[in-house]
Amino acid sequence: MPSATQAETAAVSLRVMELNDVPAAVRLHRANLASGFFVDLGDRFLCRYYRTFLTSPAGVALVAEVDGRSAGFLVGSTDDVVHRRHVMRLDRWNLARTGTASLIVRPELIARFARTRARRFLKGMRHSSPQDTTPLDQVRTGMLSHVAVEGRLRRAGVGARLVRGFIDIAKVHGVERLRLYTSYDNEAAQRFYRRLGWKPQQVLCDADSRPWVPFVLDL
Ligand SMILES: CC(C)(COP(=O)(O)OP(=O)(O)OC[C@H]1O[C@@H](n2cnc3c(N)ncnc32)[C@H](O)[C@@H]1OP(=O)(O)O)[C@@H](O)C(=O)NCCC(=O)NCCS
Repeated sequence: MPSATQAETAAVSLRVMELNDVPAAVRLHRANLASGFFVDLGDRFLCRYYRTFLTSPAGVALVAEVDGRSAGFLVGSTDDVVHRRHVMRLDRWNLARTGTASLIVRPELIARFARTRARRFLKGMRHSSPQDTTPLDQVRTGMLSHVAVEGRLRRAGVGARLVRGFIDIAKVHGVERLRLYTSYDNEAAQRFYRRLGWKPQQVLCDADSRPWVPFVLDL
């Protein structure tokens, strides 16, 4: 395996994710970031979700290639508020239709949806005003939503190259802070982000009571 320096300088290149990359990103997401309600809703829903990063004015979607072959991806946004507003205004009906179709064929998820998400979801469908996209920070904040690297190409600098590429784009857009959330038990990812200078914050729990470690990087 090449050293991190070799891989970063010689073999790894970044490009913008295109529509026909989405199924491969979804496959990598399912294989590596498998727990979560969105994943349980199936690949059709995940594909719709990934497409929001391609259509959003604040979306960033990158593919890393090693020797011309896809090695990993990253999706996020340069402005979390703008991105969520875009999703609520333009993609919510597509996501709702695909999500409903997924729930119909997965009745075991309906009770979980009703218990943990239905109220928030129905409120979001009724209003798409700024109150639904309240910023977490007083400064312009981007979000690193997901990053994953093919198993056989790990620890060769591909992940770092994707994250640095995202940071460079965020800086060009005047982003002052980046956020991300990583699963509490994902120690490898936490080490990865710490090494890149991200600062861990107080643990938070999601709608399923799963703990997450937020990370912040001030630019
Ligand atoms: C996290 C991930 C993106 C890192 O990608 P990568 O290409 O392997 O990372 P890099 O080679 O750029 O950086 C490697 C550094 O990260 C840390 N790291 C990565 N994987 C690690 C592991 N399994 N155990 C301990 N440290 C690890 C180490 O500091 C490592 O440096 P070292 O190899 O010199 O010890 C990759 O492991 C992955 O796809 N994981 C599954 C998906 C995931 O967890 N995504 C993040 C959650 S949002």
